[in-house]
Amino acid sequence: MPLVTLREVLGAAAAGGYAVGAFNCNNMEVLQAIAAAAEAERSPVIVQFSPGAIRYAGLEYLAAMARAALRQVTVPVVLHLDHGTSYEQVIQCLVAGFSSVMIDASHLPLEENLALTKEVVKAARAVGASVEAELGRVGGVEDEIAVAEREAFFTDPDEAAHFVEQTGVDALAVAIGTAHGRYRGEPRLDFERLSHIAAQVKVPLVLHGASGLATEAVREAIERGIRKVNIDTDIRQAFVGRLRRELLDHPDELDPRRPLGAAREEATEVIRAKLRLCGSSGKAIGV
Ligand code: G3H
Ligand code: 13P
Ligand code: ZN
Repeated sequence: MPLVTLREVLGAAAAGGYAVGAFNCNNMEVLQAIAAAAEAERSPVIVQFSPGAIRYAGLEYLAAMARAALRQVTVPVVLHLDHGTSYEQVIQCLVAGFSSVMIDASHLPLEENLALTKEVVKAARAVGASVEAELGRVGGVEDEIAVAEREAFFTDPDEAAHFVEQTGVDALAVAIGTAHGRYRGEPRLDFERLSHIAAQVKVPLVLHGASGLATEAVREAIERGIRKVNIDTDIRQAFVGRLRRELLDHPDELDPRRPLGAAREEATEVIRAKLRLCGSSGKAIGV
């Protein structure tokens, strides 16, 4: 299956009222789990590599693994840079064959976020790739900020509409109360804000930090306009948790393929469940 763009899969998701899962990956086993899950669910899927993944595995390895995975699946796959930090990094990923990039300049003042995002859109357009940007700040749970302070970083609907019009991005990541990593308490999402953003912004919206949310919360977010659901921590927990159990239960095992293979199976099941939650199972045709 050839690579498809974020614009294509999210356009179909918007028309069908569902979302597409975007799964982070740092190694071969998790990539295989993503591919196997999408194939089993007959679902489009977004494979995303973060700058941390690129530092860990190397861009060439990741891109080559993704090409191998693509050759083996028959469902549409988007190859996406997650939280790209610079113009140079975006260009490297486009050259490596990514069909989509995120430029995350959300920590910069609005005008600088706008300017950098516009440059990225220009470069991505030249090779037919899509662009996701972020407005507002989706922090990490480790960021020690109180809820009231966090709300100051939530996405403003008017600003979002202006940002999307000015930059021409294909998807927008919004800050509505989610955070990256494991939640300490029950996350409270600002659904009204999400609806206001969706009413004003013409492109599909992205939910970062979707691990650990209640299934009803994810469903409601999708009902209100989320079309891309980013998941990393829940996969890490399944993969590393199973790996840890396997190593503890079989202290004499010397073949790394056994614990890694078991962890891969565990990750596959978690990803399949996320695809079903997104409502994208069976939607591989017609993208
Ligand atoms: O949103 C961030 C992703 O969970 C990637 O995390 O920077 O540790 O690769 P990472
Ligand atoms: P989680 O690790 O909280 O699932 O967040 C993933 C994410 O937003 C990747 O961009
Ligand atoms: Zn994220």
